[in-house]
Amino acid sequence: MGYFYEDLLATVPIFDSLTKVELLQIQSVGKLVTFEAEQEIITEKEEGTSLFIILNGEVRVIRKGDNDTEVILAILKNGQFFGEMSILDGQARSASVIANTKTELFMIQRNDFVDFLYTYPSLSISILKELTKRLRTADMKIKALSMKDAEAKVASIIIQLADEIGKIKNGKLVIEKLPLQVQIANMAGTSRETVSRMLHKFIKLGYIEMEYSKVTILEYSKFKAAYGL
Ligand code: CMP
Repeated sequence: MGYFYEDLLATVPIFDSLTKVELLQIQSVGKLVTFEAEQEIITEKEEGTSLFIILNGEVRVIRKGDNDTEVILAILKNGQFFGEMSILDGQARSASVIANTKTELFMIQRNDFVDFLYTYPSLSISILKELTKRLRTADMKIKALSMKDAEAKVASIIIQLADEIGKIKNGKLVIEKLPLQVQIANMAGTSRETVSRMLHKFIKLGYIEMEYSKVTILEYSKFKAAYGL
């Protein structure tokens, strides 16, 4: 206890416009919680009573598909939030959330969070912006999944991952650790073999470079445009 983390809270994009005093107020009603890699933080279909903000670490949002296969809906990292859906509509948790790495989270109870939304309109707008972004990603995926061509399906997942966990290095977008091919296959609604073939095709076409699980997208806009995404 006594661990001062309002500096960490200050790096959270949705808190951008809050003052130090306001951040301290938010800190005073929340709680710091830590999860180890592969621990489940939220369980699909359970009742939701809190919202989480990632201070450190990475999580994956998943739903179980046929035969208990894991379909990754999103990967979230430092500064992002999750658990807002149940808090806002009162329904059960829409998905499970699992820690990919050891993860430190700031946890806020529903009533406190809702109070903050009323008190700080800028916080509400930031949340809406992030939800809009998630809807855009989901729209892109629906479009890609409706296309027959596996190439576009796999490309859309690579683009989603680049948006979520990519970092710009020397002007190029780098995904340090691409999820397993079987996980990408589940996300894209195709087979692992197809994912492998498509990744090789993207390399041949000069869109990406791969080194083990590290992927570099050489020309992001061109890659996106090539598949109408
Ligand atoms: P909630 O339904 O309370 O619990 C699961 C959480 O996963 C959900 O709130 C969102 O925060 C998050 N989530 C669900 N679907 C997506 C998605 N498509 N993209 C990003 N996050 C999601």
